[in-house]
Amino acid sequence: MNRRLGVLISGRGSNLQALINAIADGRLDATIAVVISNREDAVGLVRARAAGIEAFALSHRAFATRDDYDRALVAELQKRDVGLVCLAGFMRLVGAPLIEAFPNRILNIHPSLLPSFPGLDAQRQAVEHGVKVSGVTVHLVTAELDGGPIIVQRAVPVMPGDTADSLAERILVEEHLAYPEAVKIVLEGAWHLDGRRFVRH
Ligand code: GRF
Repeated sequence: MNRRLGVLISGRGSNLQALINAIADGRLDATIAVVISNREDAVGLVRARAAGIEAFALSHRAFATRDDYDRALVAELQKRDVGLVCLAGFMRLVGAPLIEAFPNRILNIHPSLLPSFPGLDAQRQAVEHGVKVSGVTVHLVTAELDGGPIIVQRAVPVMPGDTADSLAERILVEEHLAYPEAVKIVLEGAWHLDGRRFVRH
């Protein structure tokens, strides 16, 4: 499988950093070909450049429709021969042009045990619901928001007195392990989809 990654971000980029570190340490055999942010001020762009990775902002505001924006992303990714797209805190819905250009080749990381708490503010949703366990999910991206086949999950306890922030911090530690692990599994290629189930061989 083509091991060239395109990472899409919007902000802090700590999951991007986890991928950079895993590659540098030899835990993940891949190359980050490009990092694209929809926001100019994303700290993740700085992290990428510090690691010698091409990184730039492509603002969704410059495009009339979401499909136009997605097509522009596809063009940038294809230009760099990207084989796998990693959404890492990318705060945009991805639409048909991107999904069709990279079928089952887009991963997303979400800070809850899906299908619980999809969408925004998953850690706050978990605290407010009163669940005792939450965690992180890495999944393939389909047209359904946070709904695609699950590759890796890691559980995280919710402690009495947790706030959305304290839970988010504990989940983040596991995110940074889960994302490189999931990318590795997908790139190794020993898996297939059975309906919505991601099945490893
Ligand atoms: C993470 O919690 C991720 O699960 C969610 O957005 C956050 C991004 O953080 N999708 P970072 O930009 O990777 O630090």
